[in-house]
Amino acid sequence: MLTHEQNELLTRIEGDAPMGAMMRQYSWIPACLSFQLQPDDAPRRVRLLGTDYVAFRDSSGTVGLLDERCPHRNASLVLARNEDCALTCIFHGWRIDASGQVVDAPTHQPNAEAFAAKIASRSYPVVDAGGLIWVYLGDDEAPPFPHLPFTVLPQNNVWVTATECACNWLQGVEATLDTAHIGTLHKSYIAATASTNDRNTIGQTLQVLAPRYEVDHTDYGIDAIGLRSLPDGSLYKRTTRWVMPFVSLVPGNPGTTTDGVIFIVSPVDDHNHVLFFGFWSLDTEITDGTYQTVPVSQRALIGDRPFDVGNFGGFTGGRADNWGQNRAAMKAGHFSGFTGNLLQEDTVTQISMGPIVDRTKEHLSSSDVAIIHARRALLDALENVADGRPPVGETVPTDLRDAHPVDEVLPPNTATPAPVA
Ligand code: FES
Ligand SMILES: [Fe+2]
Repeated sequence: MLTHEQNELLTRIEGDAPMGAMMRQYSWIPACLSFQLQPDDAPRRVRLLGTDYVAFRDSSGTVGLLDERCPHRNASLVLARNEDCALTCIFHGWRIDASGQVVDAPTHQPNAEAFAAKIASRSYPVVDAGGLIWVYLGDDEAPPFPHLPFTVLPQNNVWVTATECACNWLQGVEATLDTAHIGTLHKSYIAATASTNDRNTIGQTLQVLAPRYEVDHTDYGIDAIGLRSLPDGSLYKRTTRWVMPFVSLVPGNPGTTTDGVIFIVSPVDDHNHVLFFGFWSLDTEITDGTYQTVPVSQRALIGDRPFDVGNFGGFTGGRADNWGQNRAAMKAGHFSGFTGNLLQEDTVTQISMGPIVDRTKEHLSSSDVAIIHARRALLDALENVADGRPPVGETVPTDLRDAHPVDEVLPPNTATPAPVA
C-alpha cells in the first residue's frame, strides 16, 4: 500500500511537481493526433503538464507548437488565423511562424521588421511519427526521439485514436499493466471478436481470471509478462512493454493486422489525460492514410455509436448518469453495459475511480504485481533524477523500435516460470 505522500509524488504533474519535471526533462510527450493538424487549418489548444500551448500546421506542412499566448499582449493564439506560413493574431495582427519567430508586428512604426525580428514566442521541438505529434518541453537540448516499433512504419500501417479521460495520467497507465481485467471487463467484447477471428489469442484471457505476473526491469521501464496456465496444459504468455513513464505497447494478434496495440497516456494536468489508442501492422496496410480525416458523420458505426477517431472511447454522459451504462444490455447478457467499444470500458473504469485515486485505500491482489513494480520504478526514477541521473539505467534509451510486445501460447510441458514473489 502506498502512503499519501507517495501517491502525491506519483500523480502530481503540474507546476514544479517532480513527476511533471521529470516528464518535461526526459520525455517526448504525445500532444495530439497528426491528422488533427492540417495545413492552414484551425490551430489547436494542447494542454500538457498543466500548461496550455497552441499547435498548428502551417501552409508548408511544418508543425509548430508554441506557448498559447501571443507575445504582444497575450491574446490566445488558438484564435489566430493560420495562413501564409504563420499564425496571425486576431487582436493586432502580429504574425508568428512555426519556429516562434515574430515575422510581422504591424502595430509598430517605424521599422516594424527590425522590431519584429527581435521578438520570438517560445517554440518547442516536435516530431511527427506514428500518427502522433510528439513534443519536447524541457529546457535542455531535446534528446534523440526514441523510435518505437510503430513510429518507423509507413503511415498506412498505423491506426491511432485519441480519447479525453477526466482522471489522472497514472490511472491510464496502470490499466495497461493490469492484464487481469481483460477477461472480466472486456469479457463480452472479447467473446464477440474471438468468435470471428481464430487468431485471437487474447480470447485465452477468458479462461483464467487470476493470471500470474513476471516482471523484467529493462533499460526503458518494465516488461510485464502475464502468464495464464490454460486447462489443456498450455501456457498463455502476454508481454506488455512499458516504456516509462506513459507508453505501453500491448500484444495484439501476431500474423493479423494487429501486430501490436498502442496505449499512450498524454499527461494533460493533474486531473486529466488523453489516451492515444490504436494498433499497427508490420506488413499490411490498415488505413488508406486519408481515412482519419473523414468527418465523423461519414464513418462507420462501431457497436451502437459513431466511430470518432478524435474521441474514440468517449461518452455522452457523466457520473450522474453512470456514463450512460446500458442496464438493458446487461440484462440481455452484455457484461459491462458499455457496448460501444473496448476502450469505452477502459476509460469509464479509470474515470469512475475519481480524478486522482486514493491509493492508500486499495487492497491489491496477486495479479497487481506489475502495477506494484511500476510504481516502485517511478518512485526510484524520481530519486535518480533528483540525484542527477537518468530516470532508469545509465542512459536515456534512444532506439526502441525492436521493443515488440509478445503474445503467444506455449505448448504443454513448456517449463513454467516461477511466480514472482
Ligand atoms: S495580442 Fe496578439 S497581436 Fe496583440
Ligand atoms: Fe482494458
